[in-house]
Amino acid sequence: MNSSHELPSDPIEVKMCCSTVYQSDIARFLLGDSFHPGGLQLTEHLGTVLHLAQGQRVLDIASGRGKSAIALAQRFGCQIQGIEYGTQAVQEATEAAAEAGVAHLVTFLQGDAECLPVANETFDTVICECAFCTFPDKSTAASEMWRVLKPGGRVGLSDLTRLGDVPEELRGLLLWIACIADAQPVDDYARYLTQAGFVVDLIEAHDEALYEMAQQIRGKLLGAELLVRLKKLDLPASLDFTQAKSLAKAAIAAIQMNQFGYVVMRAHKAPA
Ligand SMILES: C[S@@+](CC[C@H](N)C(=O)[O-])C[C@H]1O[C@@H](n2cnc3c(N)ncnc32)[C@H](O)[C@@H]1O
Repeated sequence: MNSSHELPSDPIEVKMCCSTVYQSDIARFLLGDSFHPGGLQLTEHLGTVLHLAQGQRVLDIASGRGKSAIALAQRFGCQIQGIEYGTQAVQEATEAAAEAGVAHLVTFLQGDAECLPVANETFDTVICECAFCTFPDKSTAASEMWRVLKPGGRVGLSDLTRLGDVPEELRGLLLWIACIADAQPVDDYARYLTQAGFVVDLIEAHDEALYEMAQQIRGKLLGAELLVRLKKLDLPASLDFTQAKSLAKAAIAAIQMNQFGYVVMRAHKAPA
């Protein structure tokens, strides 16, 4: 994987690269198992603002390793279906749900956010954490959310936002996958949802969560580089520390200048 400013023209390639990166040991090392700013604390907050409750059916789009779905089922008692592009992540999430004792509530399926493998009007709530910005066709992804929600249902997104243009050094495939290169202004996310038919009813800024996550990644990179030099840690040779550290530094500077932030959004589909 390089950080070249060239994006593959094929959207399938973008999605495959994205799921491959997030399934990698490096992603686990840098991010843990919860792949979004704010971690499970922000996930629980999202569940609260969405009024999740026992008996509800929830769809988690781009569910990654399943940590959010499992935590929400444990906290709110709802039934959760995770959809994730990466097959290995689906398998790991399924195993994690069994280990956590919630396999009766939480299941995972391989699928594409732009063509969800679920029937119309099946879910009370849809969530999508730190992934909408990576979908090449955001209008279709928003329409899919609308299609699978029951009338009166809610959607909750958390995602990276940008103000102004993405700086030149933060473009490219790797940065796209890291949710940076195609982060949208808040109003654009709201527009995708509105155009799909939703009414946006809550927007909250959580920029500090993004800053903390970026600092944490930079700290881990510095620590890991030292451990690799001391031969106390084995990481794939493909991790270019110099490049990764300079990207992390540029991202932190951009966050400090408020060029990037993190948002929680809620929208609803009008009752029938
Ligand atoms: C930043 S991670 C977030 C994962 C999870 N939502 C979380 O917060 O831990 C982005 C995830 O989106 C998944 N993804 C990317 N494109 C997708 C698509 N078109 N359909 C389904 N999942 C996708 C990736 O495989 C990756 O697991």
